[in-house]
Amino acid sequence: MAKNYSKYFVKPSIKDARKRKEKETEVINFDDYFNIKGFGKNKTYKIETFGCQANEADTEKIEGILRALDFTESEKLEDADLILLNTCAVRENAENRVFGELGRLKQFKRNNPDLILGICGCMPQEEKVVNRILEKIPHVDLVFGTHNIYKLPEYLETVILSKERVIEVYSQEGSVVENLPRIRENSRKAWVNIMYGCDEFCTYCIVPYTRGKERSRLPEHILSEVQTLINEGYKEITLLGQNVNSYGNDFTDLDYRFKNLLDDLHQMAIERVRFTTSHPKDFDEETVKILAKGGNLMPYIHLPVQSGNNDVLKRMNRKYTKESYIQLVNWIYKYVPNASLTTDIIVGFPGETEDQFQDTLELVKTCKFEGAYTFIYSKREGTPAAKYEDEITYEEKKDRLNRLMDIVNDGYLVGTKRFEGKVVKVLVDGLSKSKDTVLAGYTENNKLVNFAGPEELIGTIVKVLVTESKTWSMFGEIVE
Ligand code: 5AD
Ligand code: SF4
Repeated sequence: MAKNYSKYFVKPSIKDARKRKEKETEVINFDDYFNIKGFGKNKTYKIETFGCQANEADTEKIEGILRALDFTESEKLEDADLILLNTCAVRENAENRVFGELGRLKQFKRNNPDLILGICGCMPQEEKVVNRILEKIPHVDLVFGTHNIYKLPEYLETVILSKERVIEVYSQEGSVVENLPRIRENSRKAWVNIMYGCDEFCTYCIVPYTRGKERSRLPEHILSEVQTLINEGYKEITLLGQNVNSYGNDFTDLDYRFKNLLDDLHQMAIERVRFTTSHPKDFDEETVKILAKGGNLMPYIHLPVQSGNNDVLKRMNRKYTKESYIQLVNWIYKYVPNASLTTDIIVGFPGETEDQFQDTLELVKTCKFEGAYTFIYSKREGTPAAKYEDEITYEEKKDRLNRLMDIVNDGYLVGTKRFEGKVVKVLVDGLSKSKDTVLAGYTENNKLVNFAGPEELIGTIVKVLVTESKTWSMFGEIVE
C-alpha cells in the first residue's frame, strides 16, 4: 500500500470547476508527452467502468496507455496487480455502487498488499469524494480525474516504483489531448469523441463541473480518425459529446459546425454514423435537413427532453420550451419520416407538481418516443438545484417513475411493431445473449433483432425480415 504522499497532491475544487474563461483550448499531443515506458512488464490490470459512453471511451484510452506501458489485462479481477475504477457522478446511486465496490476491494488488498487500487473519472472531480477517500479509504493509492488521463504513466511510475500515494485532480477548464493510444472494445463499432466538456449548466447536473469547459476537436483530427477506422474495417461510428449540436461553437477562427461535420462524414466510406447526445436548444432545422440525406446517417436520434413542462424546463435551465421541442420533433418526422426518437426524462425535480408531471406524460405521447431513459431526480452537491426546496416524497417520485415507464414502454412496443413484416438492415454484433445458436444485432433505427444464422456473419450488415416484435427486441429471418 502506498503510504506516503507524493509530489502529486491536488484536490478538486467545485468553485474552480464552475469558472469558464475566454481562452483558446490547448491541444496536447500525447506523442510529445509519453517518454516513460516498459515498467508494466509482467504486471496485469483490470478496469471497471461505470456510467456513460464518455467513460467507456476514456477506458479505451486508459487501456491504450496501460498496454503501451507493457501491462497486460488480467483475466480475473482478483489476480490483477492494478485495479482502476472509472467512475460516474451523475446520480447518487451510481456513486454508492462505486463506494460499495471500493469496500469489497479492500479484501483484495489484504490478500495482495502490492495491489494498486485507483479511482478515476467523474467522482474524483468532486471535493466530497476526495475528502471521503482521504479520511476513510486509505487503501486507495491513485486518484485522478477526467482532465489528466494522459499523465497516467508518471502517476503509475510514482505509485508502483516509489510506492507513494498520488492524488491529482484538475478543476481547470481542460485541454484536448490527441494521439492517445487506444484499445477499442469492439472491432466494428467505434466511439469517436468530437468534443469534451459541457457549458450548459442544467441546474440538476454535475457534468459541467466534472468534465470542464466545452471544447471541440479540430475537424481534421476527427475526420482522420474516422478514415483510420474505415481502413481498419470499422462499420459504425458514434460521435460523442455532451451536446453535439454545439460542436464548433468554441472555434475562434473556423466556421465549421456539427452540420458540416455530418455532411463531411456522409461522404465518407463508413457505413453507419450515429451521434449522442443531442441538445434540443442547439439542434436546428438545417441539421435535420442534412440528416434527411440519409445514406450512412442513421435515422435514430436520442433527444433528451427532461420534462414536458415549461416552468420545470426553465428551472432546469434547459433553455427551450415544450413548444420549441415539439417543433424540432416535427421537423425530424417531416424530413426523416422513418426516424426513431428516444429521450431522457427526470421525474421529481424539486418542486415538480402533479400537473407539471402530467405535462411530461402528455409530451411523451405527442412525440411518439420509441424509448426513454427515465430517472428519479438525484441531488448533486454543488449544483444550483441542490439548493431548491424539494418537498416531494420518495414514494411519490417512485410512483411518477412507474406511471411514466408504463407509457414509455407502450412507445417501445409501437416502435418495434412498426417493423413487423418489413426487411431491415442489421449490423451483426454477435451471438444472442440467451441462445448461442442465434445471432443478434442492431437495425439502422437502433432496434435489437435476433435471428438464426452462421457465426461468419458477425461484423457484417445483413438484411433480415422481421417476423415478430416484442417490447425490447425483434425476431427475424435472414433474407439475403
Ligand atoms: N438526477 C437525475 N438524473 C440526472 N441526469 C443528469 N443529472 C441528473 C440528476 N441530478 C440525467 C439526465 C441526463 C442523463 C444522462 O442523466 O436525464 O440526460
Ligand atoms: Fe448535464 Fe445539461 Fe450538460 Fe447534458 S447538457 S451534460 S444534462 S449540463
